[in-house]
Formats: sequence, structure tokens, C-alpha cells
Amino acid sequence: MAEMVTLTIDGRTISAPAGTTILEAAKDANIYIPNLCNNEELTPYGSCRLCMVEITHKGRTRIVAACIYEVVDGLEVNVNTERVLNVRKLVIELLLARNNEHPALRKIADELGVKETRFPVEKKGCILCGQCVRTCREVVGVSAIGFSGRGITRRIAAPFMDFPPDCIACGSCVYVCPVNFIPMREENGVRTIIRFDFPMQQCKKCGKYFAPKKQLEYFSKTTGLPLDHFENCIDCR
Ligand code: FES
Repeated sequence: MAEMVTLTIDGRTISAPAGTTILEAAKDANIYIPNLCNNEELTPYGSCRLCMVEITHKGRTRIVAACIYEVVDGLEVNVNTERVLNVRKLVIELLLARNNEHPALRKIADELGVKETRFPVEKKGCILCGQCVRTCREVVGVSAIGFSGRGITRRIAAPFMDFPPDCIACGSCVYVCPVNFIPMREENGVRTIIRFDFPMQQCKKCGKYFAPKKQLEYFSKTTGLPLDHFENCIDCR
């Protein structure tokens, strides 16, 4: 059994297992903290900075990201102090400068009373939350994409900005992106992710194109099953 710690969030006394983050403890207690880059299936990363909260511990008060800060006994957390709200407003303005259209960002901006950003709108789309990179590495086990550059040139990219040789075209990055930035389409037996084409396997029985060949090769390699085991779609298998 995990050791339990006691803390307060917005004056409410809460017990949570040691090792829990403030964001998880708040969620379990039905206390809302905005967040965009957190995903329970992935290692916390702390990139969007929307989940900032004010903590006081052993007489010291500071602002931390709730998704990466673990609860400890006697911790006092305040979710919506003036200082926190000012930080969050600034953060959402910076995010709106990258993407001022997506409803997920607009919703948080509305909650914070932010109508527009003061910063030049660059419409980069991607908010650099890193969920795609973490999903590719931690869930799929492939690491086909990563971060490149620093500061304002930081972006998500495949090695050498070229066709990602390790990508299996599973589309996990597409599904996990909170702002639907990564385009994917299927046409004439080809799945296209961003601008990269991946041929799909045609079911030997019904003729339907059902999965990228690279993904099936990956399944074959990781399961040890022969490739022809994956030549038929799930319905015909
Ligand atoms: S959810 Fe905590 S930094 Fe993004």
C-alpha cells in the first residue's frame, strides 16, 4: 500500500498517495486546474505551464507546475491566486500566439478572461506540448520524432528534418495531439501523415486497405509472428 500524505488544496484537506502529482491529487478531489500537455498515460513533462499553482511548504511560497510537482505532507496548494492567474494569462497569450484558433485553447482563454494575445500571432499551430513525442517513444516504442532547436526555433521534427525512417505510420501522434495539428489522410491505399506517404496493406480476402505496411512489419517484429499472419484485416482474420 502506498504511503498517504495529507495536503490542502484551496483550503480543503486532502489525502493522496505519496508520488502523486498535485494535478492528479486535485483531479481526484474534483478540483479543476487547466492543463494541456498532461496525459495520464505518459511521463509528465511540464511544457505548457498552464497548470501553474502556488504552493507553500515549510514557510516558503512559490509557483510550480502542478503536473510535475509531487505532493508532500503539509503542502498547501492554492490553485487560483492572483499571481497564478497572471501567470496563466500570460501563458495562454503565448500559446494563442502560436495557435489562436483551436477550441481547446480558446476555451482556456475564455476561462481566464483572455480575449486576444498581445503577442504577434504566428499561427505555428503546434504548441510544443510534446505529447506526440512522448507517445511515440513511451507507448509505441519507436521514437520516430523528437524536438529540435531551442527557444523560438524549437519544433517537433524527424531526424534531419527528413522522412522519419523509424515511423510506422500508426497515427498515434495524430490522435494524441490536443490541437489537431498533425494532418493524416488515407487515399488509394496510401496513408499520408503531414507530407510523408506510407503504403497500406490490402486485405488478401476482402481487398480493403486496412493498415500501413510498416506498422504490420513492426507488429511482426515485436510479436515474433510471421508477417503473413497480418495480411488479412481484423474482420477476415
Ligand atoms: S499540464 Fe502542467 S505544464 Fe502542461
